[in-house]
Amino acid sequence: MSVVIENLKEALNGESNAKRKYELYAEKAMEENHPEIAYLFKAVSFAESIHIKNHTRALSLMIDSEVNLDEFVYVDEEILREKTGDTFSNLEDAIEGETYETKQMYKQFEKNAKSLGNEVAELSFSLARDAEEVHADLFSLYSKYLTKGTPIEKRKIYVCQICGNVEFEEPPENCPVCDHSKTFFKEIDTPN
Ligand SMILES: [Fe+2]
Ligand SMILES: [Fe+2]
Repeated sequence: MSVVIENLKEALNGESNAKRKYELYAEKAMEENHPEIAYLFKAVSFAESIHIKNHTRALSLMIDSEVNLDEFVYVDEEILREKTGDTFSNLEDAIEGETYETKQMYKQFEKNAKSLGNEVAELSFSLARDAEEVHADLFSLYSKYLTKGTPIEKRKIYVCQICGNVEFEEPPENCPVCDHSKTFFKEIDTPN
């Protein structure tokens, strides 16, 4: 079972870094006058916090006590700031990170949890994996717009608070990732 504990800790470290990184990328996008891209980074940052919540719950069940993230999560603010580039390279970095999590990390973690019969961790990993795939697709879409110089219209953005799925304009009746109803979606603040 310890491999699942290690996987949950690694995922929590990755998600915590991604969460902070996207906040910095949102600030950068604002500075560069790409507000819609900034809101997407903000929304995805919030989505990663949902993954942190889910993984923390799964880990807490396994160790049968409260989880202290400070014991194994390292978010180095200075390094994250140094790595922050312009909005185009930040989008490329985000796509790479989300794709790695989708196609490699969570895929493997999910297999490990399944083979050990840990359904709670398996579900936490699989929801995160599917949501990261959506994140990668949305970042790719915005990266294409930016490359082509296509103006990005203002859209409402919603995040599913069960799985971290991100939807534009209108939350669906049921979340396509976790199947919870639209009442679980939270609208991200996108000021004018
Ligand atoms: Fe993500
Ligand atoms: Fe969901």
